[in-house]
Amino acid sequence: MLRFKTIFLTLIISSCAYLNAVAQRTEILLDEGWKFSKGSFPTAAEPNFNDKAWETVSVPHDWAISGPFDKEIDKQITAITQNGEKVASEKTGRTGALPYIGEGWYRKNLNLPILKPNQKVLLQIDGAMSEPRVYLNGKLVGQWNYGYNYFYIDITNDLKSNGNQLAIHLNNKPKSSRWYPGAGLYRNVHLIIKDEKSVDQWGITVTTPIAKKEFAKVNIKTKITGNNVRLVTQILDQSGKQIAIDTAKSFFGNEADQNIPISNPNLWSPEAPYLYTSVSSVYDGNVLKDVVKTRFGVREISYQANKGFSLNGQVRKFKGVCLHHDLGPLGTAINTAALRRQLTILKEMGCDAIRSSHNMPSPEQLELCDEMGFMFLAESFDEWAKAKVENGYHLYFDTDAEKDIVNLVKATKNHPCIVMWSSGNEVPDQFGAEGVKRAKWLQEIFHREDPTRPVTVGMDQVKATMQSGFGALLDVPGLNYRVHLYNDAYTAFPQGFILGSETASTVSSRGIYKFPVVKGFDKQYEDFQSSSYDMEYCSWSNLPDDDFVMQDDKPWVIGEFVWTGFDYLGEPTPYDTSWPSRSSYFGISDLAGLPKDRYYLYKSRWNKTEATLHILPHWNWEGREGQTTPVFVYTSYDSAELFLNGKSLGIRKKDKSSPQNRYRLMWMDVKYEPGTLKVVALDSNGKPVKEAQVKTAGKPAKIILTADRNEITADGKDLSYVTVSVVDKNGNICPTATDQLNFEVTGAGKFKAVCNGDATSLESFEMPTMKLFSGKLVVTIISDKKGGKIQLNVKGKSLTSGLIEIVSTK
Ligand code: GAL
Repeated sequence: MLRFKTIFLTLIISSCAYLNAVAQRTEILLDEGWKFSKGSFPTAAEPNFNDKAWETVSVPHDWAISGPFDKEIDKQITAITQNGEKVASEKTGRTGALPYIGEGWYRKNLNLPILKPNQKVLLQIDGAMSEPRVYLNGKLVGQWNYGYNYFYIDITNDLKSNGNQLAIHLNNKPKSSRWYPGAGLYRNVHLIIKDEKSVDQWGITVTTPIAKKEFAKVNIKTKITGNNVRLVTQILDQSGKQIAIDTAKSFFGNEADQNIPISNPNLWSPEAPYLYTSVSSVYDGNVLKDVVKTRFGVREISYQANKGFSLNGQVRKFKGVCLHHDLGPLGTAINTAALRRQLTILKEMGCDAIRSSHNMPSPEQLELCDEMGFMFLAESFDEWAKAKVENGYHLYFDTDAEKDIVNLVKATKNHPCIVMWSSGNEVPDQFGAEGVKRAKWLQEIFHREDPTRPVTVGMDQVKATMQSGFGALLDVPGLNYRVHLYNDAYTAFPQGFILGSETASTVSSRGIYKFPVVKGFDKQYEDFQSSSYDMEYCSWSNLPDDDFVMQDDKPWVIGEFVWTGFDYLGEPTPYDTSWPSRSSYFGISDLAGLPKDRYYLYKSRWNKTEATLHILPHWNWEGREGQTTPVFVYTSYDSAELFLNGKSLGIRKKDKSSPQNRYRLMWMDVKYEPGTLKVVALDSNGKPVKEAQVKTAGKPAKIILTADRNEITADGKDLSYVTVSVVDKNGNICPTATDQLNFEVTGAGKFKAVCNGDATSLESFEMPTMKLFSGKLVVTIISDKKGGKIQLNVKGKSLTSGLIEIVSTK
C-alpha cells in the first residue's frame, strides 16, 4: 500500500488571503508492497511480466543480510596494498561473506492519485546498491551507478493515467568493495507530486552568513520553475511559532534571494542542537502552488591557521567516530530507530562528530545528527581514478564523480550538522601529478556547489602528499593514522592545522582478554579474537592513547575521527585470511552495539558531564589462580586504589611516563584469585569519591533482559533492542557464558534480528536462536501497526527463562 504524506500546512500568518491554503505538494513513501527477486530476468522491466511468485518485501530492504554466510562469497586473492601487503593471500569475509553479489529486481505497481494536467511527478531514490536502472512501463527512465548516492528522475511524461508499473534493476559486481556494501533498495524511495510552478527539487539553499548571539542573517536562495510567481518565506522557531516572514523581492533568473534577520537566535551546536524551519510558499497570483519546509540551524564554522576549528566562535576539537553504513544484524537497510540507538550510545560516550566513511550518508542519519547534535563530515568516495578493488568506483570516476558530488551537496547542504566535506579516503591517486589535479578538481566542485564548507581528504600517504602539493592544496589536511608524521605535516602544509581524519584502528573483541598483556600489532590467536586490554592495533595504526597525546599536546590538531564507532560487516583485520572471521574488530562498540572496554576509555575523556569509572578484565579466570592478570581502570579521575578481596593492591595515578600511563590506571602485576575486585577513585585530595567492582560469578542460572526502550511506536518500523545476559544464583553477571538461547516474540510485534557481537559467528541474524558471546547478546524486536503489548521470552537449557514486555503505541 502506498503511504500518503500530504503536507497540509496550517499557515500561521496574518493575511487572510493565506488562510485555509492547502499546499499542492504530496510526498509518497514507496515503502510497502514491492515484489523482489534475485536473478537476471531479461523481461522483468515489461509491465506484464509475471512476478506473482516473487517475494513481497518492504523497502528499505537488504537482500543479502539473511545470509547464509559463505566463505566462498567474494573470496579475494589479493595483496591489500594500502595495508602495506606485498604478497597476495586469500581474503575471506572481506565483504562480510554474505550473498550481495549478482542481479536483483524490484517491481511495484504505482497506484497514483489522479493527476492534474499541471502536475509533475518525481521519483527520488536515496541510494540503491547498486547501478540502479529504473524502468517505468517497460521504458528505461533513469539510471545511476554509485550505490550510495541520492538521485531523482522526472517521470511525468512517462506516466500513464493508471496502471503504472515501476521496475528497478540492480547489479552488484564481485570485488567491488572493501567492506559489506549491502544489496538492494536499502534506502527510501519517494514519489513527489507537485505543481509545475513550484520549488525545484533540492532548490532551496539556506545559509547563515552572520550567526552571532545578538542576531543572525539567514540567506535563503530558492530556485523556482514558473513565471510570475511570488515567494513568501516564513521562519518558524523550534516550537513552530513564526518569528519572521518575508516576500521575495530579488529574483536572479529563476532564483529568489532573501536575507532574513533573526534577533537573539538560538545557535546550533552539539550541546544545544536548536533547529529553525523555513516554510517556502509559492503563489501564482493568490493561488498557493507549493509549500516546502526546510529545517536549518543558525551556526558559524571557521577553520583558521594556528587557531583551528571553531563553532560559533568557540575553538573546539572533533571528538568523532567514523561509521560504515551497515546497522549490524539489520544489514544496510535504513531504519531510523536503529540509527537513533547508535547515536544515543555515541552521545553517552561524549562523541560529538561523525564521519560517513567512505560515502554519502543517509538522509535519516543527517536528520538525526541535526536533532541530536552531532557535527558531520560527509564523505563521497573511497576510490578516484586508481583502483583499490577490481570493480570499485574507479570504473565510474571519470564520468560520474562530478555529478555524484553535485547530488551529495544539493541533497544535503541545508543540514547544520555538516561542517566539512571529504572528497576521498586514502585514494591511491595520492601518488602522482594526476592525483594532485584530481584533488583540486573535486575540491573546486564542492566549492562551486557550496562555498560555505571546507573540503578534506583522508590521507595515508603523508610523505607523498607533502612532496607533491596534494596535501597543501586541501582546505583541511586530514591524516589517517601516522601520528609520527603529524609534526612534519603541520610544518610542511600551509593550512596551520591538521585533522585526525581517521585514528586508532585498535582491535578488540568484547569481553575477551589475552595474556600476557603486551602492546603489539597484527596479533592473532587461535580463537580469532583480539584482546580487550586495548593494546593491539595494526601495522599502519596505533592505540587510542597515542592519538590523545596529539589531541592534548598540539593546539593545531583539530580533532579526531576514531576508526570506528561500531564494528561493521566485513574487513575482519587482523583475521582477514582466517575463516570464519567476517566482521570487523575495530569498533568501540561491537556489532550488536554493546560497548567494549574501549568505550569507557573514550568516555573518560570525552564525556564531561558524567564521571567514568570502569574496571577490566572480568574476574572469572578459573585455572589462572596465582597467575599475573593485569587490571586496567578507565576513568575520568586522576587516581584510584585497587582492592582484591579487601586487600589493597596500591594506588595508581595518571602520569606522563607513557601514553598508557597518562590515560589509563594500570596494575600490571595482579595475581588472580577469585572473589571481588574493587576500585576506589580518589579526588585530588586523595579522598574516595566513587567505587566500581567486578566479582567472580558462579554457574549461569538465570536469564536477564533489559530493553533500550520499553515503549515504542506502532508503525511497523520502530525497534526495541533487548540486551540479554545471564547471572548466577546470586545475581552476578556471568561474563564468559556461551549458552545457546531461543527467542519467542508474541503480541504486537515481531522478532527482527539477533546479534552477539562475535566476529566469527556464522549463526544467522534472522533465526530466533543464538549463542551468548562473552555472556551477552542483543535481540531486536520490531513493532506491528496495530499496537499493544509485545512479549519477548528467552529460554536456555538449565536456565530460568527471561521475559520482558514492551508497549507499542500509535
Ligand atoms: C584505513 C581505511 C579504512 C579501514 C581502516 C582499517 O586505512 O581508510 O577504510 O580500512 O584503514 O584500519
